[in-house]
Amino acid sequence: MDPLTKPKTQPDEINLELTLRPTTWEEYIGQEKVKTNLRLIIEAAKGRKETCDHILFYGQPGLGKTTLAYLIGKEMGVTVRSTSGPALEKAGDVAALLTNLEPHEILFIDEAHRINKLVEEILYPAMESRKLHLIVGKGPSARTFSLDLPPFTIVAATTKANMLSSPLRSRFGATFHLDYYEPKDIEKILARSARLLGVQVTKEALAKLAAAARFTPRIANRLLKRARDYAQVYQNNKVDEVVAQKTLEMLEIDELGLEHTDRELLLAIIKKFNGGPVGLNALGAALNEEVGTIEDVYEPFLMKLGLLHRSPTGRVATQNAYEHLNVQKKSSLV
Ligand code: ADE
Repeated sequence: MDPLTKPKTQPDEINLELTLRPTTWEEYIGQEKVKTNLRLIIEAAKGRKETCDHILFYGQPGLGKTTLAYLIGKEMGVTVRSTSGPALEKAGDVAALLTNLEPHEILFIDEAHRINKLVEEILYPAMESRKLHLIVGKGPSARTFSLDLPPFTIVAATTKANMLSSPLRSRFGATFHLDYYEPKDIEKILARSARLLGVQVTKEALAKLAAAARFTPRIANRLLKRARDYAQVYQNNKVDEVVAQKTLEMLEIDELGLEHTDRELLLAIIKKFNGGPVGLNALGAALNEEVGTIEDVYEPFLMKLGLLHRSPTGRVATQNAYEHLNVQKKSSLV
């Protein structure tokens, strides 16, 4: 996978993300509908002096799901404890977290689609009626203990809402889909990030970086960081249009934001499979790339750009893909 498209926050990016993470609604750019709805839910809960409903966010990586969870915490004036689906291995793991929450605190569960069955079964009654049902022992001597939990909120995030079981999904009072950002909003996010990082950047450079950021704030910030490095070494620390262009060229990113792997994927469909339709497994084998990565990382972006189409019989490269890559369609005439 190309480094820029890596869905997760990389270890060396944690500080960057913390520096740039918005901490007020005013600082959080874009996703206006989600923000309006969340502010209402929070206002109402605060007015009633109750905890907030359980909330589920789903959407592509890097669009701000974790940021929103922390913003909710800040607005409610409570601490957010953080965990993830794969970290909760046993029923006891989630039980320990829930019993250690102070009243009204938030438990943020990232990668919620990876919560296992055992943990889900603890979560159902906990979310629904603040009861913890624990089974101690095995076989005929097994006993069930019930424990009352303090009021709390679960905020969960997932890139694959369809992989969450429907009983779990139904226990969230509100579910929000985070969509890709408008390029104009990505520009605003970049301008803010540049200010916070003390990077001098021109309007033209912002537009260029924003256009190549795959509509995703995390990727935009990665690009800005790379441009800052380039400017520091070659150009007096100022990120102008030339620096932005050179940075993108160095990273092999084209004007639409396509990286090497995106182009390889489209070219494989066109050249090896005559434009498609081609099944996901065959495509994965041709590219030596995991099927899940193709489906979750590359395809949504290529579909958003109208370069790829998912048909019932497989993936198809669109006319736009041929034009963008400057390849002729093979004639079907013999
Ligand atoms: N950084 C990441 N996402 C952001 C957003 N939506 N607004 C401002 N800065 C961000």
